[in-house]
Amino acid sequence: MNPCGTCNSLTDNYGRTVKSLRMSITNRCNFDCIYCHNEGDHGSLSEMSVETISNIVDVASGMGVNRVKISGGEPLIRNDLEDIVASLPELKDVSLTTNASMLKGRAQSLKECGLDRVNVSLDSLDPDTYRSITNCNANAFERVLDGIHEAVDSGLNPVKLNMVLLKDINEVGMDSMLEFTRQYNGNVILQLIELMDFKDVAQYRVNADEVERKLLSEASNVTVRQMHHRKKYIINGAEVEFVRPVDNTEFCANCNRLRVTADGKLKPCLLSNDDLVDVSNASLDELPSLLKLAVSKRVPFHRTE
Ligand code: 5AD
Ligand code: SF4
Repeated sequence: MNPCGTCNSLTDNYGRTVKSLRMSITNRCNFDCIYCHNEGDHGSLSEMSVETISNIVDVASGMGVNRVKISGGEPLIRNDLEDIVASLPELKDVSLTTNASMLKGRAQSLKECGLDRVNVSLDSLDPDTYRSITNCNANAFERVLDGIHEAVDSGLNPVKLNMVLLKDINEVGMDSMLEFTRQYNGNVILQLIELMDFKDVAQYRVNADEVERKLLSEASNVTVRQMHHRKKYIINGAEVEFVRPVDNTEFCANCNRLRVTADGKLKPCLLSNDDLVDVSNASLDELPSLLKLAVSKRVPFHRTE
């Protein structure tokens, strides 16, 4: 029985209250990263309309959701991304996860439409390494750097750089990434991410404990964030977080997110696919009970017992 069966908040059977929606708005992407988990991609080509997206967020925000992260595929592939952002209700935090190759020229308008901040995938500062990871076309790397600059200039704050750590590929680039981060005087945060093995990429997994030890030995200050009990390190003025989702019971125990796939299905957990709840054609009246249904299906993937 949902502990909150009668009230209007989105609390699951494990006491976790959903406060955040992670919305994939397209499965399309102009990159083909070697590790990509193709989030929410179930082969469907259909994409939610601006109205469907804004209805879901409207209803969810009435039920306690105050953060939305827009993701893909690559969300900037949609020309109506500005309309999507502008259609959202007042929220504490609206962010975008992007490869930034198409961000230049749109960062300012996205900010004006109500976007608060961006997470940019940037796995390497070496153009050749970058291309070998992302399989992007020749001039994408320069455009990504321009996009990051413009995001900072537009006040999308903070800009977080997502760097998925890959053994023997980009590990050596961690220090130069820190140096890159420093030049933005606190407006850019480096987010190191432990690789999740979704498509036989286990050979690229780094030793996360070793990374943690290195960060700890170099940091002048370490704090722990409530969200996922994530550690935040300050290394010579650069701010670094290390996201460790793999086999992490704390990660799941503190998860307050609900995912929405590009074709309009509520996805209770990133790591399971058999519990989707279709809301692509739901009316405003039907949405509250469908949101509750999805939340009642949330089970921590990694559990303590
Ligand atoms: N492991 C960890 N993170 C991943 N991402 C995508 N695939 C993986 C994976 N297999 C994350 C990266 C990227 C964002 C779009 O999704 O952080 O920047
Ligand atoms: Fe996947 Fe993002 Fe890379 Fe596109 S840019 S292939 S969505 S990880």
